[in-house]
Amino acid sequence: LLLVGIGGVVALMAAWNGARHDTTGVIEFENALDIPPLADSRTDADGTRVFDLTMQRGTTDLGHGPATETWGVNGSYLGPTVRADRGGRVRLNVSNELSVASTLHWHGMHLPAAMDGGPHQMIEPGETWSPEWTIDQAAASLWYHPHLHGATAEHVYRGIAGMFLIDDAETPELPSSYGVDDVPLIVQDKRFRDGQLDLRPGMFTEAGIIGSDILVNGTPAPFFDVTTERVRLRLLNASNARTYNFTFTEGVTFDLIATDGGLLAAPVRLSHLMLSPGERAEIVVSVPAGSSTVLRSVTQPLGLDMWTNRFSGGDDSLDILELRAGPSLTPNTAVPDELVAQRDLGEPTVTRTFSISGSNEINDQTMDMGRIDEVVEVNTTEMWEVRNGTGAPHNFHVHDVQFQILDSRDPALAGPKDTVYIPPGETVRLLMRFEHYTDPEVPYMYHCHILAHEDRGLMGQFVVIDASAHQDRVPQRLPQA
Ligand code: C2O
Ligand code: CU
Repeated sequence: LLLVGIGGVVALMAAWNGARHDTTGVIEFENALDIPPLADSRTDADGTRVFDLTMQRGTTDLGHGPATETWGVNGSYLGPTVRADRGGRVRLNVSNELSVASTLHWHGMHLPAAMDGGPHQMIEPGETWSPEWTIDQAAASLWYHPHLHGATAEHVYRGIAGMFLIDDAETPELPSSYGVDDVPLIVQDKRFRDGQLDLRPGMFTEAGIIGSDILVNGTPAPFFDVTTERVRLRLLNASNARTYNFTFTEGVTFDLIATDGGLLAAPVRLSHLMLSPGERAEIVVSVPAGSSTVLRSVTQPLGLDMWTNRFSGGDDSLDILELRAGPSLTPNTAVPDELVAQRDLGEPTVTRTFSISGSNEINDQTMDMGRIDEVVEVNTTEMWEVRNGTGAPHNFHVHDVQFQILDSRDPALAGPKDTVYIPPGETVRLLMRFEHYTDPEVPYMYHCHILAHEDRGLMGQFVVIDASAHQDRVPQRLPQA
C-alpha cells in the first residue's frame, strides 16, 4: 500500500513537472486571431507623438469562460501596439488604474535611465507617469511590460504587455500592412483553475509558472487567414518562463529577417527558431494557396552543440497557431536579399564577467535596489562575459543597449539582441556599446528574463556616467523605491 501511495505521488508530480505535454495534432483552431489595435496618438505643438496608456483591470475570455479576471492596457488583456518613427520624439502617459503600484518598461529601447520604466520608476495607483524621449535606434519589434521589483511575474502573467514597433524610413521595403501581412504574435502560456488564471506560487517548477494552454495575442486555439503570398510574423515570447522552439508543419520553412533589436544583414532560411522569455524575432513565411500550416513548438533532442540543443524551460510539444491560406493570394513585397548593414560596435576596452550562480543571484549577490553593481563610462564598447554556472536554463537581458553575441554559430543569433538564452554550464560573450545617456543616480537593469528568477533577485544595476562630469557624484547608495 505504501509503495502504491508513493508511486501515485510520484506520478502526480510527474504530471505537473516532469511529464511532457504534447498537444500537437489535437488542438482545433477555432478562434480568429485577435490583432492588438494600434495605439492612438496625437501630435503636440512641438511635434512630440503622445500616447495614453492606462493599466487597468477587467475580465477576458481566454478559453475558460468570460469571467476570468485579467489586467491589460487600454483594455482588459494585453495592450495596444505602440508604433513610432526613428528620429521622432514620443511621450507616453502611463496611468495606473490597478489597485497596486506597478511600472511600465520599454524592453529593448535605447533611452535615458529615468524613462526606462524599471523598478525605480514606480507608478502608484491613480497616478500618471509621463516619460519622453527621442527614438534613436533601428527599426525593430520591441515590447513593454511591468518591471517592479518582486512582482513582475505576476503583473505580466495577469496580462500587462504589448508591442512597441519602431519604423525607420531607411529600411528596405518589407510586408508592412499591419494585421494583414505584418502580424504581431505575442505568445504566452497559461494555467487555469476554476475559470481563473492560476496564480498559486510556482511550486512545480524552479522557473515559476509553466502552463500548457497557449495564447497568441490573448487568443486561445487561434487561426489566422492568410491573404497574401507572404506574411511577416513578429514573434514575441511574452511568457513568464517557457522557451519555445518554433517550427511549422507541412515542411514549411521561413526567412528570419530580424532579431530582438532589428533587421539582420540578410535573411536566413530556417526550419526552427528558439525564443526564450523576452526574445523577439521577425520571420517571413509563405503558405501555399489553399493550404494550411501549424506553427508549433517542438522539443529538440539534447545534443552536444550548445547552440542547437538549447534546452527549453518547458519540455513540451505544443501547437500554437494555424495559418490558413485562401484559394488565391495577393502578391506582396518579397524579402530582399540584403536587409540592413549591421552596426560596427568597435573593439571592447572593458571586460566584465557575470556569473549566474543560482536562481536568485549574479556574482553571488541578490538584487539590491540601493546598490549600484556596475559603473559604465559613456561612449565605451564593453564585452560582458556571462556564465550560467547552474544546472538550469537562464537567459540574460541588458537594458539600454542592443548587443552582438560573439562566437555563436547560430545564424538566428547574428542580429542585434537584447536578451540571450544561456544553456546550463555555458558562457556567452556579448559586445555592447553605451551611448548618449548618462545619469549617475538612476540605474539600468540587467537580469534573467525568466520572471520568477528576476523577481527573486537574479538582477543587477548599472549606471552610465560621463566620468569627467559625474565622477564624484555616483552615490554610494540609491534611494529604494
Ligand atoms: Cu523585459 Cu528588464 O526587462
Ligand atoms: Cu533565470
